[in-house]
Amino acid sequence: MRHLMSPLDFTVEELDKLLDLAGDIEANPQKYAHACAGKKLATLFYEPSTRTRLSHEAAMLNLGGSILGFSSAESSSATKGESVADTIRMISCYADICAMRHPKEGSALVAKEHASIPVINAGDGGHQHPTQTLTDLLTIRSLKGRLDHMKIGLCGDLKFGRTVHSLINALVRYPGIEFVLISPEELRLPSYIRRDVLDKNKIPYEEVVRLEDALPGLDLLYMTRVQKERFFNEEDYVRMKDFYILDSRKMELARPDMLVLHPLPRVNEISVEVDKDPRAAYFKQVQYGVYVRMALILTLLEIEV
Ligand code: CP
Repeated sequence: MRHLMSPLDFTVEELDKLLDLAGDIEANPQKYAHACAGKKLATLFYEPSTRTRLSHEAAMLNLGGSILGFSSAESSSATKGESVADTIRMISCYADICAMRHPKEGSALVAKEHASIPVINAGDGGHQHPTQTLTDLLTIRSLKGRLDHMKIGLCGDLKFGRTVHSLINALVRYPGIEFVLISPEELRLPSYIRRDVLDKNKIPYEEVVRLEDALPGLDLLYMTRVQKERFFNEEDYVRMKDFYILDSRKMELARPDMLVLHPLPRVNEISVEVDKDPRAAYFKQVQYGVYVRMALILTLLEIEV
């Protein structure tokens, strides 16, 4: 039985196959409309979500399956002290596959150890968000035509941003990838990722503070939100939250074919005027998230169409 804890759970070849399947689903949705008939997906969300929960649910419904679950820890027996380990044992009796989001790093691994159904890590604290990475890879491959030979700017909260951590892990496996890490000093990419992922794989990268300095050379800009929920102190969050604001004037510095991605939700870091720029791809990214989660559910349930 397979689970998805991190993007590295799939080899590059397996990822290519998954993205090809997502592409076929996009082109031929009717072919997959009953592929999961009789199957159930449970969504266990101990932390707020709009896209990740609803796109998993939409994916299962598009495949002809059913959904059940909870959308907050408060509406589950976690409030009575039930552990993740016990909860996942219950869920294994109710559903065929589950997606879990939890504020604690490593919680998805605990779920996996106690589950008898495939577990999808839908985000564990500041650690990993692998289905967002699958979404990002499908978006990049679909819109750029490749996943290699690109200079990628990662901007914002690189310290706590699990989407960035997962994306870096996935992209370093492709040739010719370079990163520009754009963050304030306090939100730099953790040293263990710089050392164990970037340095170990000999990936060229530079760290800059000003977005304007990075923009002209990028093939892709991945913006992220400064995450209020990860700060211990409101004052630090208020100081950091509007550090980066991508607007139309800054977009003039970028190449005509540079893509802007964002895992969303956005707060102030991308001005709404950028939405109409043809390089803004973050709402297309949301649609790709459904196709790739459909492909993931089929793959983990070992259903061939
Ligand atoms: N991108 C993402 O994880 O969004 P949600 O928090 O709304 O699920």
